[in-house]
Amino acid sequence: MEQSNEVIQKKNLFSGIQPSGNITLGNYLGALRNFVLLHEQYNCLFCVVDLHALTLRQDPAALRRNSASLAALYIACGLDPEKNIIYCQSHVPEHAELGWILNCFTYMGELSRMTQFKDKSQKHADNINAGLFTYPVLMASDILLYQTHVVPVGADQKQHLEICRDIAGRFNSIYGDVFVIPEPYIPKTSARIMSLSDPTRKMSKSDAEDSYVAVLDAPDAIRRKFKRAVTDSEAEIRYDPENKPGVSNLLSILAAVKGTTPEEEASALSGLGYGALKEATAQAVVEALAPIQARYQEIIKDKDYLNAILKTNAEKAHAIAFRTLRKVYKKIGLYQI
Ligand code: TYM
Repeated sequence: MEQSNEVIQKKNLFSGIQPSGNITLGNYLGALRNFVLLHEQYNCLFCVVDLHALTLRQDPAALRRNSASLAALYIACGLDPEKNIIYCQSHVPEHAELGWILNCFTYMGELSRMTQFKDKSQKHADNINAGLFTYPVLMASDILLYQTHVVPVGADQKQHLEICRDIAGRFNSIYGDVFVIPEPYIPKTSARIMSLSDPTRKMSKSDAEDSYVAVLDAPDAIRRKFKRAVTDSEAEIRYDPENKPGVSNLLSILAAVKGTTPEEEASALSGLGYGALKEATAQAVVEALAPIQARYQEIIKDKDYLNAILKTNAEKAHAIAFRTLRKVYKKIGLYQI
């Protein structure tokens, strides 16, 4: 076979998670785990999107703690900070700067259609701030600054990815090919993990603690939460998200963790009671999270190491972001000196 000396250029991957609470099993199965699966094929940036978290009122001490914790969790999951750029959004000013420019290329009508904005304004009726409204524009800046090809996210971010593509396309059609148009990467089985206490709603880190399993929950807490998970009054283990959302959610979690399908898990457990399903799911989750939790405990103790990583990586991110922003400034006619 002929040997090729051609160096294959890796494409770019960007994703982020808000440090707005405990990172949940939904975040893990919908996003984080895919970061780990994909990271070797791409040049990756994994961001702690702390500026996005400000769209809901945060306790300052908790925000600081959660930001460091999320950075440590990225590493604990297996993302090598020497090979992946792991950093905080607020450490790279270009995110907010490009955010402003892109605000001027985004229509109020488009932003008004965002379901996350509608949901969050209903949930936080006393704090419908402008940041909540323009949230998708900052998210588009995150992605477009790094000429991103692929964005691994859960299903709830699909609409934000669509508006990002629209903004990039609009900008490119006026100024030429400035931005790469990104593609979402949404997993099949675990795109939308549901709440354990109300399986018709998405599992969310901003809801009550019993409704979600946190990646850093102790094994006892994980078992207790699954034991209490809401199911239904039938006694049949069957995958049917519409009519049996609780049972189907447990089957999806079990399948996602084991790398099977919910239907396979349903047939393996057929004839057994819901107790068996809950136990099997809890056990699989406890086993999957144990090595991550152990590694996390080592990293979070060593703040000097963590801070040094965040600093070096923010510099690397800044170098890339600065190039894109300069190009944007030039194209739109901002006076350069
Ligand atoms: P956030 O912090 O709400 O969630 C982080 C990631 O977890 C996914 N996710 C879920 N997946 C499956 N089931 C669930 N129950 C579940 N809950 C959350 C989310 O889809 C997401 O992928 N806007 C983003 C953060 C962000 C971002 C970005 C993402 C800011 N800039 C640029 C990608 C690229 C968010 O709120 O994620």
